[in-house]
Amino acid sequence: MYDQKFWNERYSANEYLYGITPNTFLSDNIGLLSGPVLSLSEGEGRNAVFIASHGLSVLGVDCSEVGLEKAKSLAESAGVVIETEVADLADFHPEENKYGSVVSISAHLPSAIRRKLYPLVEKSLKQGGTLLLEAYSENQLSKDTGGPKDVDMLMTVSKLHQEFPNLKPILAREIEREVSEGEGHTGMAAVVQYIARKEA
Ligand SMILES: C[S@@+](CC[C@H](N)C(=O)[O-])C[C@H]1O[C@@H](n2cnc3c(N)ncnc32)[C@H](O)[C@@H]1O
Repeated sequence: MYDQKFWNERYSANEYLYGITPNTFLSDNIGLLSGPVLSLSEGEGRNAVFIASHGLSVLGVDCSEVGLEKAKSLAESAGVVIETEVADLADFHPEENKYGSVVSISAHLPSAIRRKLYPLVEKSLKQGGTLLLEAYSENQLSKDTGGPKDVDMLMTVSKLHQEFPNLKPILAREIEREVSEGEGHTGMAAVVQYIARKEA
């Protein structure tokens, strides 16, 4: 399975690599989301636990079972319930017309996987459903504050417009912002922020 060993090793320490507080683009926009929520590349659970704490049911999918075990522990200590599924997103088939929202935070994938997955993500949203995505942009390549060192896995607004042709963007921007997420993401970073809706 793609990258599973790499991520299991990254998550093998007791500490949470990206911390236990949610991504701020997600927390700033939680009011736009409805359930059930599908969270792609959920990792160690900080975002799913936050979503659940807002009363939304959430399924966190990730290729790392070590990460998702930590996610379940985090949920238990926060007193919320989350669902998890160990899966390679290259072969993941979300149910059609099921989700009120899909969340993708730092879920960097090669374009070959995105080509297969993103049309399924569009289909998995209910009418009126929302996609919320933050990822490092191509401008992050020269920075050492986090993110993959492969331009194919980094995003731009233009890539997102092309890859989600059936969603209507509400917010689409490339900005630089200070990111402070555990020891994994730290410092000024170039990111793409995207919120789009499946029109009724
Ligand atoms: C940078 S971490 C982000 C984790 C989480 N979204 C967060 O913000 O804390 C990237 C995550 O993508 C997952 N991942 C990478 N490739 C994957 C794939 N092909 N299928 C499923 N998960 C994958 C890794 O296991 C890791 O948890």
